[in-house]
Amino acid sequence: MGKANGFLVAGMAALLMHAAPAFSQEVLDPDPNTLAPSKDPKRQANGLALTPPMGWNSWNKFACNVNEQVVRDTADAIASNGMKEAGYEFVVIDDCWHGTRDENGFITEDKTRFPSGLKALADYIHSKGLKFGIYSDAGTKTCGGRPGSQGHEYQDAIQYARWGVDYLKYDWCSTGVRNAEEAYALMSDALRATGRPIVFSLCEWGNSKPWLWASKIGNLWRTTGDITDKWVGKHGYSWGVASIVDMNEPLWPYAGPGHWNDPDMLEVGNGGLTDTEYRSHFSLWALMAAPLIAGNDVANMSPETRAILLNRDVIAVNQDSLGKQGHRIAKNGDLEVWSKPMADGGRAVLLFNRGTTPARIGTDWTALGLPATVRMQVRDLWAHRDLGRVAKRFEAEVAPHGVVMVRLQP
Ligand code: GLA
Repeated sequence: MGKANGFLVAGMAALLMHAAPAFSQEVLDPDPNTLAPSKDPKRQANGLALTPPMGWNSWNKFACNVNEQVVRDTADAIASNGMKEAGYEFVVIDDCWHGTRDENGFITEDKTRFPSGLKALADYIHSKGLKFGIYSDAGTKTCGGRPGSQGHEYQDAIQYARWGVDYLKYDWCSTGVRNAEEAYALMSDALRATGRPIVFSLCEWGNSKPWLWASKIGNLWRTTGDITDKWVGKHGYSWGVASIVDMNEPLWPYAGPGHWNDPDMLEVGNGGLTDTEYRSHFSLWALMAAPLIAGNDVANMSPETRAILLNRDVIAVNQDSLGKQGHRIAKNGDLEVWSKPMADGGRAVLLFNRGTTPARIGTDWTALGLPATVRMQVRDLWAHRDLGRVAKRFEAEVAPHGVVMVRLQP
């Protein structure tokens, strides 16, 4: 009897050892079901956004006061003021468009703000030759307290595709202990399953370092907290333009065609900065291959704002097919030199003066990785002036908080 019991105990111990999770894990690896989504060898990028997305988003100017008239007026403006021809494509409604979920769990639009419905609005935007974007959240609620997509991911993706959505910005409020990579991969897969090409914009503020895992999950990922229409510093949970720049800059190696660092939407034209500062903001975003998503009232903007957003020379730097994010190559106190390699073998160069007095800033060709003797064609991208062929070095006087931006072409 004692002997039989002894066998039984030994047998059970052996069985238990086999069932121990750590052991079975080793035997089963590599099982795709145990891999993080970004490590699954079968995962492919969606092939969209081969240059940084361009468009408009309602949040920076209208916040929760967005409605269908604002969106229609914006689409009309973009289609008629030159923005569409310059490349602005996506018209994106941020937070607060949501109504309740219907009896089957499908999300509906807020009928007082969008009485004609989002399908009609999408059709209108498409009729202007533009694309339609929308906003949701990986948690139970959006940051504005509307219904989030948690637990409704596939259902929401189907609804967006039915409306004709071309772009989804997906936020990170009310997510509790959710794992960001899993949550974003789930919505990425849901969007893919609709069969409709939908650009996927991750908005988890850089908390879980999406640049390390999101290149095949989404097309752009926020790298920072929210931008605000101020020059520098932290303001509540938001950051001024020059502070955002410093957080986004070091991430340059992670950007490329189809997957971009997103230092948040533009504040150009919202009134908090000077035009000089807005030119710097726009130039830095362009040079960092950031999405160029206007965040102002484009239907009622000043000629100065329009001239900034419509600078085709600067936009061409941003949209260059090589898709390299430019970065800082020299810093001397408040004076900085930034460079972006271009597909033609040239460089876009930004001289940036963070200080409060005018200053001369310059760079040698060798610092840009070019031979000193090569004569490059130089164009001033804000003066819109060709400066002829130049060897060795370029320098210029730069206004306080200002930039001089040039393009060097072979
Ligand atoms: C977060 C995002 C913003 C905006 C708001 C909407 O703060 O970071 O860009 O979408 O939510 O509530």
